[in-house]
Amino acid sequence: MKDRVKVAVLISGRGSNMAALVYAAKADDCPFEVALVASNVPDAPGLLLAKAEGIDIFTHTHHGLSREEHDQIMHDAIVEAGADYIVLAGYMRILSDEFVGKWCDHMLNIHPSLLPKYKGLNTYQRALDAGDEHAGCSVHLVTPTLDDGPVLAQTEVAILPDDDAEVLADRVLIAEHQLYASTLAQYITREADPDWILNQVRKHALALEETYERPSFGTPGWRVGSEKTGKYFAYFSLRHFGESGTSVFVKTSGLDEQSALLDADPDLYFAPKFYGKSGWIAIRLDTGHTDWDHVADWLKKSWRMVAPKKLTKMMDIAEEF
Ligand code: GRF
Repeated sequence: MKDRVKVAVLISGRGSNMAALVYAAKADDCPFEVALVASNVPDAPGLLLAKAEGIDIFTHTHHGLSREEHDQIMHDAIVEAGADYIVLAGYMRILSDEFVGKWCDHMLNIHPSLLPKYKGLNTYQRALDAGDEHAGCSVHLVTPTLDDGPVLAQTEVAILPDDDAEVLADRVLIAEHQLYASTLAQYITREADPDWILNQVRKHALALEETYERPSFGTPGWRVGSEKTGKYFAYFSLRHFGESGTSVFVKTSGLDEQSALLDADPDLYFAPKFYGKSGWIAIRLDTGHTDWDHVADWLKKSWRMVAPKKLTKMMDIAEEF
């Protein structure tokens, strides 16, 4: 079996979503494994099942501790388990900003409503009271504000005429169990999706001043300057120009720097066939652990090399001090 991404599931109660993830992970082609189930409630019913399934568990009550202290204890246990992602599944704790910051883009939650509707509690009753035709559930990334991060996926669940909150909750739960595992699988493998990678490069390239996208020989490229006289500072390559894999080409200061990079990290860099001759370098983006800050720094450096003087002047002055 391939290396699978380790996730830690945090629960406070019955843990049926945790169970759904554990069973999804039993499929041979599931890209994640549940490395740890952790709880702030030492006798949370879900822990029994996790244990019976042979999964490591960790518990530590939050009583008598500050939010930050408790979060730190959980953080240490999660890191110790080697988990790359945290999956909140009925974890009834508000998390400190510090903890959320540490797991930025690596922590998911499931909420029993069609967000942004009905954040917080009593979601089913509120949907019934509003006369909604559908309730549902959402998987979202966790940000400091409760139930507010970007929604990754949702499932609508029909409301039937005789539903009360309890009956509706049971039906929504069926949808939750399907949605969580599939969304998690898709999210953690997003770096294998060329469209996602392209959008990341695009976002960073277009965040630089006076830039725009223009295809070049059938692949997206980014230029700085005016429409007419602008210059390319990056190209996206998805097996273009005879290369393998997904990469971005950026400009180095010349062939010396290019060969130093190739020596220093041959797994990350390669010389692109056509552009390599003029000192461009390719950065691989399909390694599964791309450091996007590093890519953003490269784009900026490359941008700076070809940007019109009027744009770089202020930066040069600032750097002199
Ligand atoms: C679910 O309804 C989930 O949407 C919410 O908490 C509940 C957890 O249930 N975040 P379980 O412990 O997974 O059974």
